[in-house]
Amino acid sequence: MTGDLKIKIQETIDFLPPIPAVMAELLVALNDKDIELEALSHIISKDPLMSMNVLKISNSAFYRLPNKVETVDRAVTLLGIKEITGICITCGTYQALKPSKNVETFDLHDFWRHSVTTGVVARRLSEELGILDHNVLYFLGLLHDVGKVILDRVAHETYKVVIQETLQENITIREVEKRLIGESHDVVGAWLMEKWRLPITFVDVAKYHHSVNETPEDNRAATAIISFADRLSWIHYAGLESNFDVTLLTEHGGYLFLEEVTDIIDEVDLGKFMRELDSANDEIDEMMKILQL
Ligand SMILES: [Fe+2]
Ligand SMILES: [Fe+2]
Repeated sequence: MTGDLKIKIQETIDFLPPIPAVMAELLVALNDKDIELEALSHIISKDPLMSMNVLKISNSAFYRLPNKVETVDRAVTLLGIKEITGICITCGTYQALKPSKNVETFDLHDFWRHSVTTGVVARRLSEELGILDHNVLYFLGLLHDVGKVILDRVAHETYKVVIQETLQENITIREVEKRLIGESHDVVGAWLMEKWRLPITFVDVAKYHHSVNETPEDNRAATAIISFADRLSWIHYAGLESNFDVTLLTEHGGYLFLEEVTDIIDEVDLGKFMRELDSANDEIDEMMKILQL
């Protein structure tokens, strides 16, 4: 590796923002098996932005709760620890990576739309297959590509070239990222999550969503779903679902691994599944609005 790339990698590592205080406190609290719900809501309530996000998401179509949730206490009681953790990790990461005004970035709106779409698709897939925790997959999808935001912030001018070259040449974005910056977004995203000590599933999904076979066994199914959802999300974004050759999808690495886990995947009508993704657009728009993207 040239010295120049080494410098860029070091700059990337130095750029990784510190974990937001409320998230750090929550993660420590969650390691305590006897954590009381009250203690959780006390931590969240100290951060007005986090509290607002918890309430907005609790009241969104995502949960379809019958009555309006008015307080963080109530949200925590109704949704439980696992859901609240997912919401807080997602919102905290979004906030931490939000650029300050005047900072030039790549198209973040498009980027987050892809991320939210991947989350929605992943949740639908896991529901269809009847495996894993559907909502956790949603949050994993939302965060799978955060390494791109970091690379763009560290080397915005170079990242513009990365995006251009990926579009022009027939190569993957990871190859161009490695060639021009020294490391790819999957690995960089995992660096951030490791630094923040997020649950290992988040780290593994970020790190291996382009190389499912290398995922440690415990998190391989989750990574396979995100990887496959990532592919479907691009097709949906490009508006190609109506005339897409779905047999090509059955060669995807994520799909192949899911076939090993469950026979049900062969029964899923992928064409129909893709066409039905249009019905997810409202849900995607709503989440974009909540997160102010
Ligand atoms: Fe990716
Ligand atoms: Fe992606």
